[in-house]
Amino acid sequence: MLKSGFGWLKSSRFWLLTIRDGREDQARAWLAQLANSGLVVSAKRVEEGKAKSEASISEAVAVAFSFSGLKKLGCSEAETHPFPTPFSSGMGSALRKELLRDTSRDQWRWSDVEGHDGCQTVHVLVAQWWVLDEESRMEAPDPDVFVIRTVENNPCSFKKKEDGRLREPFGFRDGLAQPVIRGLREEGGASRKQAERDAGHFYEDRVVEPGEFVLGYRNEYDELTYCPNVKEWPQSGDRFTLNGSYLAVRQIQQDVEAFEEFRKANGQGICEKLMGRRMDGMPLGWQGPPGSDSAADAFRYRVEDANGFACPKGAHIRRSNPRDSLGIDVQSSIKSSKLHRLLRRGRPYREETDSGTRDGLFFIACNADLERQFEFIHQRWVQNPRFGTLHDQDDPVVGSLPDPKTFTIPGLPSGSEVTLASFTKPLGGGYFFLPGIAALNFIVRHRAGARTAAAHQAEAAVP
Ligand code: HEM
Repeated sequence: MLKSGFGWLKSSRFWLLTIRDGREDQARAWLAQLANSGLVVSAKRVEEGKAKSEASISEAVAVAFSFSGLKKLGCSEAETHPFPTPFSSGMGSALRKELLRDTSRDQWRWSDVEGHDGCQTVHVLVAQWWVLDEESRMEAPDPDVFVIRTVENNPCSFKKKEDGRLREPFGFRDGLAQPVIRGLREEGGASRKQAERDAGHFYEDRVVEPGEFVLGYRNEYDELTYCPNVKEWPQSGDRFTLNGSYLAVRQIQQDVEAFEEFRKANGQGICEKLMGRRMDGMPLGWQGPPGSDSAADAFRYRVEDANGFACPKGAHIRRSNPRDSLGIDVQSSIKSSKLHRLLRRGRPYREETDSGTRDGLFFIACNADLERQFEFIHQRWVQNPRFGTLHDQDDPVVGSLPDPKTFTIPGLPSGSEVTLASFTKPLGGGYFFLPGIAALNFIVRHRAGARTAAAHQAEAAVP
């Protein structure tokens, strides 16, 4: 999942699973057969698959666990190396609600914590991608063992335009601005040279150390990212969370009708200003036909667009990644922005309801430090009513201030403020730990209470 977004696998389904009380062994057995099914694709297999052809991987699955899920499956955090508070308290906790500046969660259907009335506690998240219009090979979970909620693929998301590229429900190309993870998500050979040519001297702006996404590796502070451990982990020398990552997940419903009405009333140009990109994915200052993805991500703000005449300062992409406008100069700004990057792995979804269909984004952000990455971005930038020099405005796409909201567009001849309503609302969210292959195998085989003396010794030996 860190290595690839499986863009060629256009069907997706997210399983939100709650393990029923007393059914832990059966849950583990189902997860064990899933782990052994060959569908959980390692980074190495993606690499090998790509060398042959992408078609050699026709289906992929990733499995992640909330803190309550790990506990339920008998993995308890080690006192010497506990999990960081955001993960152990959970996105669904009252504290995280305040920190993330969520105004209301009354509409939430699920979260990662226990004890919310009427809200499902999700223990396990299974993400599944496979070839469009084919049957999936994954064995479905048993409803006697799990309470099951699924969030299904939006079949329109790849079909709206002839280019076959992913579009979110408002019609914008998505998944463009992604970090290049050194040593893991780097293009090689000719495609690397092409990407460098297209991005020019901005190419390095995107390159981020692996420890920003994978636990146990060198990060942007030139430190090894902290690896929590669980008491039951038997191996000495490394820890349970090595090679893992955290997923910040939100199911966000999008009001496509309201957005369309806004588009009709205000024009597509204003909609593009809200997002900060053209619908075809190119930056707002771009002239002419679309360029490559690498060219689409090669821009800065500080000098070229200091006033926000091209991309307004409060636009979704400028808030969620202010690029070079953070520090005292361009280089320190780019260095700072690398401390707050997200690898986005979400997919658009569609839900059938009695009154028709509802679309949205199943947002997934991979990161190694929930506090410094996802939560910082959410609290200080996206949901911050005083972001930059703005006042009483939050993100025009995902902000949660009450309606009517305002949005400042510098340079508009007709005045600089647009009035808008909320176009999105979150229906649930949680933090999940995506284990490396060894830890996944451990979770599904390990039985609670079967802790050995060797495990105690090994844990004590880890520095
Ligand atoms: C329904 C909700 C959302 C929609 C429709 C949406 C849509 C988009 C679109 C169209 C882009 C531009 C394409 C691209 O750069 O790949 C984008 C970029 C981005 N979004 Fe969102 N997004 C949503 C929620 C969120 C949330 C909740 C966050 C984080 C808290 C977020 C963080 C980002 C980031 C970091 C970028 C890349 C910015 C850059 O590096 O230039 N998005 N989003």
